[in-house]
Amino acid sequence: MKVLRIDSSAQRGDSITRRLGSEIVRRLEQAHPEVEVQVRDLSDGIGFIDKHWVAANLTDHDRRDPSQHEVLSSSGSLVHELSAADVIIVTAPVYNFSIPASLKAWIDMICRARLTFQYTENGPKGMLKDRPVYLVMASGGVPFGSPVDFASDYLRHIFGFIGIQDVRPVFAEQTNRNKTAARAAALTMLDQWLPGETVPGVA
Ligand SMILES: Cc1cc2nc3c(=O)[nH]c(=O)nc-3n(C[C@H](O)[C@H](O)[C@H](O)COP(=O)(O)O)c2cc1C
Repeated sequence: MKVLRIDSSAQRGDSITRRLGSEIVRRLEQAHPEVEVQVRDLSDGIGFIDKHWVAANLTDHDRRDPSQHEVLSSSGSLVHELSAADVIIVTAPVYNFSIPASLKAWIDMICRARLTFQYTENGPKGMLKDRPVYLVMASGGVPFGSPVDFASDYLRHIFGFIGIQDVRPVFAEQTNRNKTAARAAALTMLDQWLPGETVPGVA
């Protein structure tokens, strides 16, 4: 089982979303003997699309010149690792009512017409096969699903847009109020998908 884990918090050791992501990996490893985890840590940096990228992406694959293939190569690698994964874990804090910029940059890289989605007579159609995505999110004050949550529905929409409907939310909301309660609520959500005992110190 190939697991792709995409982290986006600027925090490291004390990040609640990262710790919940680690708990999911631990439970997957417990349930499946052969789990291979690939980590894409977006806080290490990710490029932005630019005019060269857009032009290359609009050019048919067979008509691209070598420099256009080069411009699209990291985007192509990100799409490849996404489509190769059996299970995806995305960990994302709410930043300024939305998602971290690094995660948006990743989305810009993986939403590729004719590769991950296509336009049909009936509108856009996702091209990736469906698979579970554990969507781990945390907010300081914003309740998920409220009018000021511009993050969770957006991420769910993006995964649906590329064909991945099986989105499994694991939300720690309003961590500024009570971090312990927020984490406990997230673990209760996780229990629905992956029942298990939580190991202290992981989540
Ligand atoms: C730069 C920044 C912006 C934030 N903006 C918001 C926000 O708009 N709304 C909110 O509810 N929490 C906001 N927070 C709080 C985080 O979402 C919250 O602390 C979350 O638990 C962080 O998850 P992490 O520990 O995995 O990094 C922000 C935090 C940071 C660092």
